[in-house]
Amino acid sequence: MGFPQLRLRRLRRTESLRRLVRETSLDVSDLVYPLFVIEGRGDKQEIASMPGMFRFPVDRLPGEAEEIARLGIPAVLLFGIPEHKDEVGSAAYDPDGVIQQATRAIKQAAPDLLVITDICLCEYTSHGHCGVVVDGYVDNDRTLSLLARTALSHAEAGADIVAPSDMMDGRVKAIRQALDEKGWQHVPILSYASKYASAFYGPFREAAESAPQFGDRRSYQMDAANVREALREVEQDIAEGADMVMVKPALAYLDVIRRVRDAFNHPLAAFNVSGEYAMVKAAVRQGWLDERQTVMEVLTAIKRAGADVIITYHAKEVASWLST
Ligand code: PBG
Ligand code: ZN
Repeated sequence: MGFPQLRLRRLRRTESLRRLVRETSLDVSDLVYPLFVIEGRGDKQEIASMPGMFRFPVDRLPGEAEEIARLGIPAVLLFGIPEHKDEVGSAAYDPDGVIQQATRAIKQAAPDLLVITDICLCEYTSHGHCGVVVDGYVDNDRTLSLLARTALSHAEAGADIVAPSDMMDGRVKAIRQALDEKGWQHVPILSYASKYASAFYGPFREAAESAPQFGDRRSYQMDAANVREALREVEQDIAEGADMVMVKPALAYLDVIRRVRDAFNHPLAAFNVSGEYAMVKAAVRQGWLDERQTVMEVLTAIKRAGADVIITYHAKEVASWLST
């Protein structure tokens, strides 16, 4: 049967019909909201490259966490900006570091809000690389024990999930082992398994003061041209014990999300990164895009591609739109 009996427009005629046959729906329970945390007290500071996003001093977190929980968002992802940086990122695994303090403060204020902590050294190292630098090269194996120490100290502070984003080989295994040895078997690992070397992290690096001081991250983050390699990364992290995996960025990598979803059964997260957020915000400010429609379209596309969980700076706005 073809046209004129067949008319695909029949099911698009009214919003009720469209709702009935809609294939993908966004839910607030899919969302994770990233938070940038600084040490000390005072006012939250707006991040110039990410309008609507702030750096929160630890003492402002309880109020923010309560608001996020009230909106029904199930989880936050924490990024720390320490006062002190050094060659080996000591502040990352300081039991009284910024993330450790932040985690305790949030869990106390909103016990049911999941705290996911980003595990990486770049915000904590003076050179801004995600691992220990030896002779100008980021040394994989020397970095592993520091990442494991960081994850352990986050678990001790009350983190519900740890999320390594450094792209060192073997870090999931090292973290799993360190957690299990100390009795943290129940803490899941969300691995940034396929993380690309991307220009879309630009605004984040300004927000987190984590830009590399020399070179770039191409010797550890993935080449944007590759997708089979992404499947190998995911396979490897799952073999090492990752409970959930991530594709990052999201929007320019929807094919990677789809391939990972089809090849594996682990829960899959996608990170709608800072540059994707900044592009939308900038165009909205110019009056060139409608914010609500654009954001809903972007996030629906990420979900349609196969993501179960979406990490997005738009989460608070989306949560309030979904409830009206
Ligand atoms: C740290 C980290 C980065 C992001 C998440 N964790 C930056 C980077 O790798 O340079 C990017 C997040 C974003 O752009 O929103 N390794
Ligand atoms: Zn890093």
